[in-house]
Amino acid sequence: MRVPDYPSVDSKKWSDVDGYFSRLLAPEDDLLKLALDENAKAGMPAHDVSASQGKMLALFIAMTGASRVLEIGTLGGYSTIWVARALPEGGRLTTIEANERHAAVARSNIERAGLFDRVDLHVGAALDVLPNIEREIDTPFDLIFIDADKPNNPNYLEWSLKLSRPGTVIIADNVVRGGAVADPDSEDANVRGVRAFLSMVAKNPRLDATAIQTVGEKGWDGFALIRVK
Ligand SMILES: C[S@@+](CC[C@H](N)C(=O)[O-])C[C@H]1O[C@@H](n2cnc3c(N)ncnc32)[C@H](O)[C@@H]1O
Repeated sequence: MRVPDYPSVDSKKWSDVDGYFSRLLAPEDDLLKLALDENAKAGMPAHDVSASQGKMLALFIAMTGASRVLEIGTLGGYSTIWVARALPEGGRLTTIEANERHAAVARSNIERAGLFDRVDLHVGAALDVLPNIEREIDTPFDLIFIDADKPNNPNYLEWSLKLSRPGTVIIADNVVRGGAVADPDSEDANVRGVRAFLSMVAKNPRLDATAIQTVGEKGWDGFALIRVK
């Protein structure tokens, strides 16, 4: 068996490495930092993506040429800012947030960042809002970022399939949950939601996917990366 030569990493080191990578490759400007400050001031949970993850979303948009993006779970708009900034000329981001207080802070963060002209922020539970979005859009989404209540991930996958086209990329965040995702007997509703979601992905011949676990300032987690065939 190959023994890893880095067995003693700890979470402080995960954060140090994340900080090093993001300062070098994904530096936050004042508007991103201010968005996080405003979220904290409003007492919102620090469940935003990290700077490196925000940059990863931006890179996916640039690499795929996505111009129509759907985000489920806005929180204070931190990931929204990364994504909206990465859009090409004429691109649009539709984002959904159930919590009115989160949505109000997000609106102000997105406006301050000068991005509200390319962002459609829908306030409401995603499963209520998605049928309206389906009626409103004339072209399918190129990239869909699922980052809301995990028990609904299977429903969000069904909606993503309705709102996508061959080639659409679907990214689902927080699929590792500190390793709990590997436990088939977990009674945690979030773990069960993620497991049901991944099993639907695996069984669907229209989808091709992988999942990557990550460590960093947000702890031990990871994301699923899916392509509609
Ligand atoms: C992990 S946070 C999103 C983080 C954000 N994408 C970022 O990286 O900055 C999840 C958000 O989903 C919202 N949410 C939870 N249930 C929801 C639902 N049913 N519909 C829409 N949003 C929901 C929560 O209120 C929370 O703000």
